[in-house]
Formats: sequence, structure tokens, C-alpha cells
Amino acid sequence: MKMCGKNLKCLATIAFICVFVWSFSLENCHGREGRRWGAHRKTGGYRHHHVHVDSEDVVGASLASEGGSGSFNVLDFGAKGDGEEDDTKAFQAAWESACNAEGSMVEVPSGYEFLVGPISFSGPNCQPNIVFQLDGKIIAPTSPSAWGSGLLQWIEFTKLKGITVKGTGTIDGQGSVWWTDDSPTDDPTDENLDKESSSGRLPRTKLTALRFYGSDGVTVTGITIQNSQQAHLKFDSCTSVPVSSLTISSPGDSPNTDGIHLQNSQNVIISNSNLACGDDCISIQTGSSSIYIHDVNCGPGHGISIGGLGRDQTKACVSNVTVRDVKLQNTMNGVRIKTWQGGSGSVQGILFSNIQVSDVGTPVMIDQYYCDGGRCHNGSSAVAISGVNYVNIRGTYTSTPVHLACSDSLPCTGVTLDTIQLEGSSRSNEPFCWKAYGELKTSTVPPIDCLQSGNPSKAQAHGFC
Ligand SMILES: *[C@@H]1O[C@H](CO)[C@@H](O)[C@H](O)[C@H]1NC(C)=O
Ligand SMILES: *[C@@H]1O[C@H](CO)[C@@H](O)[C@H](O)[C@H]1NC(C)=O
Repeated sequence: MKMCGKNLKCLATIAFICVFVWSFSLENCHGREGRRWGAHRKTGGYRHHHVHVDSEDVVGASLASEGGSGSFNVLDFGAKGDGEEDDTKAFQAAWESACNAEGSMVEVPSGYEFLVGPISFSGPNCQPNIVFQLDGKIIAPTSPSAWGSGLLQWIEFTKLKGITVKGTGTIDGQGSVWWTDDSPTDDPTDENLDKESSSGRLPRTKLTALRFYGSDGVTVTGITIQNSQQAHLKFDSCTSVPVSSLTISSPGDSPNTDGIHLQNSQNVIISNSNLACGDDCISIQTGSSSIYIHDVNCGPGHGISIGGLGRDQTKACVSNVTVRDVKLQNTMNGVRIKTWQGGSGSVQGILFSNIQVSDVGTPVMIDQYYCDGGRCHNGSSAVAISGVNYVNIRGTYTSTPVHLACSDSLPCTGVTLDTIQLEGSSRSNEPFCWKAYGELKTSTVPPIDCLQSGNPSKAQAHGFC
């Protein structure tokens, strides 16, 4: 299509071929989702170029034949896509139509830049299995007046059953205007939030660019999320979440720009993705279990982290996390578990396997004395850590190869190290362990003789989850 440029004849010919191929595939490939949606996208595009006007009927017919009822292009709801006029209302209207139709699709076509303010694509009364086909670019407003107070996110999908966000498009938070504001971000009071909106400043709560909440069956694939205000992509209280072929891109020095943030979510698979940001590439928080991460590149960033857990004496539970076939380049840490003193609960059943590091500060880290700014006291309780397996961790580091700092009150147990091969510079530190119990399965490079074998002698009161 690109080769044809604006040549109408050429477009018309291809449109004809597309419809032909589509009808052929409908006969032969019933139920093959990918092919079906692909055909829609093309006909939708032509419709906009006013070349093949009656393709609308074709789309409607095909969806009807599969039980769905429509495709809703934001351009047909008044979106301008010029990057300047506010398209929020058009997006909202397209969503409302899609919401009422099972298996429907919201189309955000390529070749346009849509300026969209804070928006919620919200159930729970929507039909299931809506597709948000993102091929164009969505940009966030940068002027303070566009943002209300107390927002947690810019774009939200909430309380849905079966939601797919896919395509070749981009979500751009235009975060640089937020990053330079170095005011404290935690726990803003309503009072100073109000002051901010009236004083023309950006709100103090920094936002997640794209957040999914309380949904079951959330697919995110193909898209790019860049320059987020704070975290790029967040899943909170979601189940069955496949994420693949995702690109996240922000500068390494952009503050608090986590890549993907998981909280209270189960059955999450993150694969084949490139994550570059200014904080954790993936951050796994409390309530997360059955998490599988594979074939992911991380860097720049702070690595892949479980935690920080147990802040302010809270209970935290994370279990059954597998991270494998991951490459980390130029990151602060590699694979890390971090917990605050004084918390409770547990982290268990963790596997880090085939982790390739290159110029990573500390590739293997457990830090049970995590303290992010401010003063922290050692507590008498801790989030219990058990069953953490490291297999085949290779590459180069710049600070410390292995740092396992476990709690005095609750040592780590069942930490296994198998095939560790890490090369540092002459100035780098020795492996460090404190209250870490487990097993060396093989000899390691460098030698790690600080891991204590077996279990601690005192019976431990373990955190229940
Ligand atoms: C652990 O997580 C994997 C996904 O990585 C899942 O297939 C498996 O069923 C989970 N196991 C348990 C016991 O929950
Ligand atoms: C907390 O405990 C650790 C390990 O025993 C010790 O190294 C550290 O100095 C203590 N920190 C404080 C603030 O007491």
C-alpha cells in the first residue's frame, strides 16, 4: 500500500484484491481470528480514502456472520487526527458504540496522530471481546489544564471481559514535561491537587500511560508505548493476560518510568518484547501469581523486579513466577527481589532461567532491606522469601555479581544457584550473602562460598498468604 502512495487507481485495485482474498479466506478459514481482523483493517482504511465505499457493507456482513456487529472507526465519530484538536470525545463515542456490540472493534487508523486527554474505556456493562485496533498514534496533552486532579492513569480499560489492544500503533505520553518536575510524587492531598490545577501546574500524581483494571482476558500485542508520564503499562486485578510483541521506549534517565507493572494479577504471560525505560522494565507487585516472562529484552532500565514488597508493614504475597530467556543490557540490576523491613507475607516459587546480562550493575539480587529514599528501621518481621532458583545466569557485570541480603528475623530459604557465569572488571565486588540458605548446584564463576547450605537452625515462623 505504501508503494502505491496516493495513486487512487492502484488503491482501488488493491481494495478489490483484498475483498477478493477476504471472501476466499472466509470460505476457507472460518474462525481464524487473525486473518479475519486483518481483512477488516484493510477495508476500514479504504473506506476512509473514499475509494471503496461499499466495503462498509462487507465489513458489517462478515462480522454479522461471525456473531459480531461492527467496526467503529474513530474518524467516523469526528476525530481529526491532526495532533492538535482534542479527539477525546470522538474516542469516547466510538467506544460507547463498540461497548454495546459483542466482538466489535474500535479502529484507530494509521497515518493520524490523535490528541486524547484522560479517558476511561469502561465496562462492566460492555459486551465481551472488544478489540481496540491501534494502528495510528495517540498522544497525551501536555498542558496542565487538560489534566484533572487525582488521576491514576491517562488511558484506562476497566471492568471488561475479553479486551484486546493490538496493532502497529503508538501511545505516546509526551512525558518529558512531567519528568522535569522534581516535586515529590507520593500521597498528594486533595488540597494541593486543587491548588495545582488552578495554578496551571501539572498534577503531582504522576500517571500510568495505559492501565487495565479488574478485567479478565486482556491481550496486548504489537503496539508501542513511549515516553510515559510514569509507568508505561499497568495491570491491576486482572486475570489471563497475554502480552506480546510490545515495545516500550523511554530514556534511561526518565524518573520512575516503569515498563510493565503487575499488581493483584494472575496468569500473566509477557513475551517477545523490548523494554527500555528509566526504572524497572517489569515490576511484579503484591497479589501476583502464575507469571511467566520469556524472550524479553530489557535496557536501559533497572532490571526485572519482584517488589518492593511489604512497605509500611503491609502484607505481600507473590508466588509462581518464571523469568526465562531474558537479555538485560546496561541495566542497574538484573533479576531482583526487594522487600521492605517490617512487612509480612511471602515470595515463593521463583525461577530465573537463561538470563543473559551485559554491563549490568548487579545481575542477581535479593534485598530485604529495601529503602527507597528517607530513613528506614530494621523491623522484627519481614516478607518471607523461599524457593528462589537461579539457573544459567551469564554475562558481564559492573558492580557485584550476586548480592543476597536476607532478613535477620526471617532468613531466605531454598535459594539455589545453578550454572552462574559472571564476569566483572577488576574493580568489582565479591559475591555477598547475608542469612541466605540454599544450595549451590554447580560450581560458579566467580566462586560463591557465602550461601549457607541447608536450612536455618531455628524454626522460622513463615509468612502465610
Ligand atoms: C504456575 O505458573 C504457570 C505459568 O507460568 C502456570 O502454567 C502454572 O499452572 C502455575 N502453577 C500453579 C501451581 O499455579
Ligand atoms: C539492619 O540490619 C542489617 C543486617 O543485620 C544491618 O547490616 C543494618 O545495618 C541494619 N540497619 C539499621 C538501620 O539498623
